[in-house]
Amino acid sequence: MAEDPLIGRQLANYQIVRLIGHGGMAQVYYGWDVRLERPVAIKVIDARYRGNPAYAQRFVNEARVVATWRHEHIVQVYYADEDDGLYYFVMEFVDGYSLAEVLAQYRAQGRLLSLDEALRIGFAVAGALDYAHQRGVIHRDVKPSNIMLANDGRVILTDFGLALDLHQGSMGEVFGTPHYISPEQARRSASAVPQSDVYSLGVVLFEMLTGVVPFDDPSPTSVALQHITTPPPSPRGINPALSGAHRSGHPDGAEQDPCRAIPDRRRAARRACADVAGLPGFPRHEATAHRRATQVR
Ligand SMILES: Nc1ncnc2c1ncn2[C@@H]1O[C@H](COP(=O)(O)OP(=O)(O)OP(=O)(O)O)[C@@H](O)[C@H]1O
Ligand SMILES: [Mg+2]
Repeated sequence: MAEDPLIGRQLANYQIVRLIGHGGMAQVYYGWDVRLERPVAIKVIDARYRGNPAYAQRFVNEARVVATWRHEHIVQVYYADEDDGLYYFVMEFVDGYSLAEVLAQYRAQGRLLSLDEALRIGFAVAGALDYAHQRGVIHRDVKPSNIMLANDGRVILTDFGLALDLHQGSMGEVFGTPHYISPEQARRSASAVPQSDVYSLGVVLFEMLTGVVPFDDPSPTSVALQHITTPPPSPRGINPALSGAHRSGHPDGAEQDPCRAIPDRRRAARRACADVAGLPGFPRHEATAHRRATQVR
């Protein structure tokens, strides 16, 4: 593989040290703040998007908004800039694993997160979303790879990179990840509302509690279509230990029309969490098990 030309390069006060991972639109590097002498994570926009000033501008605007926030469950953004056509932002380095990695490990071992741990993560992300929604920002891409589980136990929502400021209107061209996408975003990405994030969090809860996502198919379009047209399967049908919970099929009680019947999915999500938490006889002693599981890596 060709050497990554960014490794070793310094952007502002931040030295790019090594690649941590990459997603659809950017690479994330472990970096070093040479002034404050502390680790950082540096997210660099993918070369394919660099010629797109609208996207790049949004990337920086977004970082600017999130940089003013302080919330225990939202990643701290330190800096954002453009350097010779390279758009990047610098954030708190989270020493740990993404929920996607943790779920993959559990799946490989044929295990599920404990109920306590799933609820702890669900409540933390719900709190982070509340905070963002109150400030007019929709995340738009709530999914396990954007939820970090730090080794010290913190739950941190990252990546407001796809989010649009409600007050700025929408650009309409972004399509979130189909497995966690809300029906309204599947129809039209510009239709995202705050409740869309809560729907996506509901899908994440579903996956934590059952080990599978409600809809899966090799075709992303088919997954998106199922979110629009098909009632989700019953989580208790998949995980009988959930018996008695979830009067509705979906863990967040998500009404597929975000503005009908359940005007606030957030309340529904909290109620669903409370329902599950009240279950008698559910194993509670494994609350820290995933940390042990992940440390063997
Ligand atoms: N602040 C951070 N500290 C440590 N690791 C991080 C941080 N932010 C992201 N990562 C890691 O980098 C990986 C890549 O992140 P990135 O957001 O580019 O992709 P993604 O979330 O997997 O996919 P997508 O582009 O579809 O959002 C993440 O899965 C995560 O493991
Ligand atoms: Mg991400």
